[in-house]
Amino acid sequence: MLKKDEKKDEKKREKEIDKLVKKLTLDEKIAMVHGASLFRSGAVERLGIPAIETSDGPMGVRAEFMDDRWIPSGNQDDMVSYLPSNSALASSWNPTLARKMGYVLGMEARGRGKDVILAPGINIKRDPRCGRNFEYMSEDPALTAAMAVPFIQGVQENDVAACVKHFAANVQETGRLVVDETIDERTLYELYLPAFKAAVQEGGAYSIMGAYNKINGEHCCESKTLLDHILREEWGFDGAVISDWGGVHNTKEAAACSMDLEMSVFPDFDEYKLANPLKELIEKGEVSEDAVDAKVRNLLHMMYRLKMIGSKKDSREKGAYNAPTSRETILRTAEESAVLLKNENYILPLDEKKVKKLAVIGANAAKVHSDGGGSAEIKALYEICPLAGLKMYLGGNTEVVYAPGYYVPAKPKTFEVNWQATSLDDLKDTTVGQVTRDETGEGHIKGEQERLAQIERDKAEIHEKNPALFRQALELAKDADAVIFVGGLNHDYDSEGFDRSDLKLPYEQDLLIEELLKVRKDTIVTFVGGSPVEMPWREQAQAILWTYYAGMETGNAFAKIIFGEVNPSGKLAETFPDKYEDCVTAKNGQFGVWDKITLEEGLYCGYRYFDRQRIKPAFCFGHGLSYTNFEYSGLTLKAEKGKDVKLTFTVKNVGKRAGAEIVQIYIAPIAAQVDRPDKELKTFAKVELSAGRSKKVSLTLKQEDFMYFDAQLHKFIADAGDYEILVGASCEDIRLRGIATLN
Ligand code: BGC
Repeated sequence: MLKKDEKKDEKKREKEIDKLVKKLTLDEKIAMVHGASLFRSGAVERLGIPAIETSDGPMGVRAEFMDDRWIPSGNQDDMVSYLPSNSALASSWNPTLARKMGYVLGMEARGRGKDVILAPGINIKRDPRCGRNFEYMSEDPALTAAMAVPFIQGVQENDVAACVKHFAANVQETGRLVVDETIDERTLYELYLPAFKAAVQEGGAYSIMGAYNKINGEHCCESKTLLDHILREEWGFDGAVISDWGGVHNTKEAAACSMDLEMSVFPDFDEYKLANPLKELIEKGEVSEDAVDAKVRNLLHMMYRLKMIGSKKDSREKGAYNAPTSRETILRTAEESAVLLKNENYILPLDEKKVKKLAVIGANAAKVHSDGGGSAEIKALYEICPLAGLKMYLGGNTEVVYAPGYYVPAKPKTFEVNWQATSLDDLKDTTVGQVTRDETGEGHIKGEQERLAQIERDKAEIHEKNPALFRQALELAKDADAVIFVGGLNHDYDSEGFDRSDLKLPYEQDLLIEELLKVRKDTIVTFVGGSPVEMPWREQAQAILWTYYAGMETGNAFAKIIFGEVNPSGKLAETFPDKYEDCVTAKNGQFGVWDKITLEEGLYCGYRYFDRQRIKPAFCFGHGLSYTNFEYSGLTLKAEKGKDVKLTFTVKNVGKRAGAEIVQIYIAPIAAQVDRPDKELKTFAKVELSAGRSKKVSLTLKQEDFMYFDAQLHKFIADAGDYEILVGASCEDIRLRGIATLN
């Protein structure tokens, strides 16, 4: 809700915008609604309207490119803070930290002179193989919304727009430019849209990025349903919609809906759909000039809010990048996002005094990840890898020996041209119907077969080189005081542009881990990665620690957790299945198909599916251990104002260390009149407690939390009756239960 003086401001602004639009010529308006360089819109200097400077992305501000080529500028002044990925941030379950993290991103973007930062990515993780899951937050809409809202607010405090992406349901990379997703309305509204709605209505996002994919036959960047009816009319969005780079295909369609700024990967800026082709249609009278006026108005709105124009220009935040103060937030997020999956016999934390010789095994111990992943790649000022972090922590009196343990083939890097230059080649002269098909009839992205063939060649090379590396690693492990394995994935797997083919650890890591656990059953197994992996040896391992790509301070956070200076407090924001075959998308085959998928499972993805089918995952949604233990007691429920339900209960730290517990509130409808998931997360809190202390937690469930989307009525409704309220330490570990009755 706008405050009184804000309303006055808006009115004044409307008038100024009216005046400006009247003064603009058609050419000037057209210049404003499409890219004039790879990351910049057209300016109208005559009227003091600057270009909109955009930049990726979610893990920090991307390096500068040349204006019309995907060639890095090559300067050294665009190194920046490398921030934890959204998957890391989400597993901290800490909205306060999300706000701080967003603030850092906004500050860096503004410091680099940007107006719009192409982040955060808030698509729902439907399948653990999706290549971009590392950029997204969770499989759950409530958790995603709760983390995205403060993040966006933090970004925008710096007079930089968050461009929330990719609207909507950008759930796979395979065929991402053409895939048509059939989604029923209820699923869309309950699962894939809520975080975007919260981003707009609660986060106040100034801009939204339209996704590449189609939904129910409409390209998201040309969709009246998404951009006009849902975003503008239902949610009241009055900021700017920016296309994903190359997401606009048809001038008329894009002109007719609320697509305000077309960006793409090609350098022929005048030929963009919203450039000359739009001008021609307007001149021929086939498109009304009002259409372009509406787009310009939306862009000007955003520019006013960012103080790019108007009377407040001089008070615009100036930002700062690489500010040392930001590192504290980055470190804290890395610390809070690590998830301790298993810790038998309290084998962790290690006692520094007892470790005179530490063996660190695994290529990810010595790897930096900031420079990969697609548009989320970062030219980091620095990135401390786990091995460096351990050595920095231990100093010179502890011997740290390292072996990579497994072979990672080097990827041929083409430095002159960034992959994005050719990322849309498939669209240049093919349409969906003419996609290259192999003998099985399956469609393929150009280069995809070559990529898969390369993987096969790599496998052979890995198999040949690994035995010697295994031997070396096992030797080191034998006579060390402690052994830490650091494996996982990297951006050859977690990446934009393609999906993973399975959930297996690459490079034969499973074999190595099994061997290591045979010689040293106390091996601490740790991972860096962006999406779930299968862990077939997990019964044998005593300790398993999962970390996502966690930014420049990764190694420092890692060492502090291993040696107990920091007590892990992250919990999984996504299900880690026992095996891929257990996922609903593996069963229905509706993932990773090139041109068409149906989200047949409806609401049943992630824990909603595992719950319903009683399938036990390896590690469930919401799971994460601490070096201490927490007890829950005394749940009381009180209906407030006849609507909201107020919950109180007590959490006690019954262990010997300070720690933080993430308490999760799920609602389970008892006698629902329609089919509803067994339980759904609605709210949560992260409670910090010193040893022996307890705290009363109070949380509120709003009426909306009990609702489902009725497609016939086209609105959210709640059935009267009983609902079980579950207070859990994870979605499986329910500690307290109560009943709330809705009249
Ligand atoms: C990605 C976007 C990104 C844009 C600009 C696209 O390929 O999907 O997430 O912001 O490129 O680099």
